[in-house]
Amino acid sequence: MRTPIVAGNWKMNKTAAESRAFMAEILPGLQAVTTVERVICPPFTALESLAKLMEGSGVGLGAQNIFWEESGAYTGEIAPAMVKEFCQYVIIGHSERRTYFGETDETVNKRVKTALAADLTPIVCIGETLEENESNQTETVVTRQITEGLKGLTPEQASGIIVAYEPIWAIGTGRAASGAGANLVVGVMIRPALETMFGSQVSQAIRVQYGGSVKPNNAAEFFSQPEIDGALVGGACLKPDFAAIVEAAAKAGF
Ligand code: PGA
Repeated sequence: MRTPIVAGNWKMNKTAAESRAFMAEILPGLQAVTTVERVICPPFTALESLAKLMEGSGVGLGAQNIFWEESGAYTGEIAPAMVKEFCQYVIIGHSERRTYFGETDETVNKRVKTALAADLTPIVCIGETLEENESNQTETVVTRQITEGLKGLTPEQASGIIVAYEPIWAIGTGRAASGAGANLVVGVMIRPALETMFGSQVSQAIRVQYGGSVKPNNAAEFFSQPEIDGALVGGACLKPDFAAIVEAAAKAGF
């Protein structure tokens, strides 16, 4: 049995003060759903104050990125230990990082290894573009992203990561994948790629989220799929009804 996990990626939204106010509003609803692992990934500047606010709440905190060096002359970057002081998770390789900030499978791999070494749980994002989807490249793309992005991990390390399958054409577009379609990609492409690398037991243990225009009204469709273990939510997690998505995960029963 894989414990469902729903994470909210606030992206570049909310100042620290806005983050605190919003968290105070949504925290009771998130706390109420204890059968789902819940994670909030705010901007770096809000991590410290949210860590205080959320202490003992049972709701996890994650960063949206880390650098792969421990310290040094890397202006503008953030080290794993800096993040680890406040949180337990880190999103790695989000498509926006890949598209706008030159993230590659190779840099994803460095960051994943660094996160694991710092005892942070990486949420590793993969997914194909619309063009790749329409030219039947999805399997090639997600297999490459997994093979390269998770290269060199031991099966034990791999069993602790979270994979987020986020078709790029579904992110922020309001055009979500179908539950069955996403389930197929996870079951027929992603888990087999994981199995080739880490064996069947590990591939069955790794939690795979779906991400891309998940809303309260379509969340149940994803959570009812056998291969999908939760969601990585963008736009809809900036609204109070994010709790409704978490509740949908709990209701799906898994
Ligand atoms: P969205 O974003 O829910 O706004 O589509 C998902 C994501 O980028 O993780």
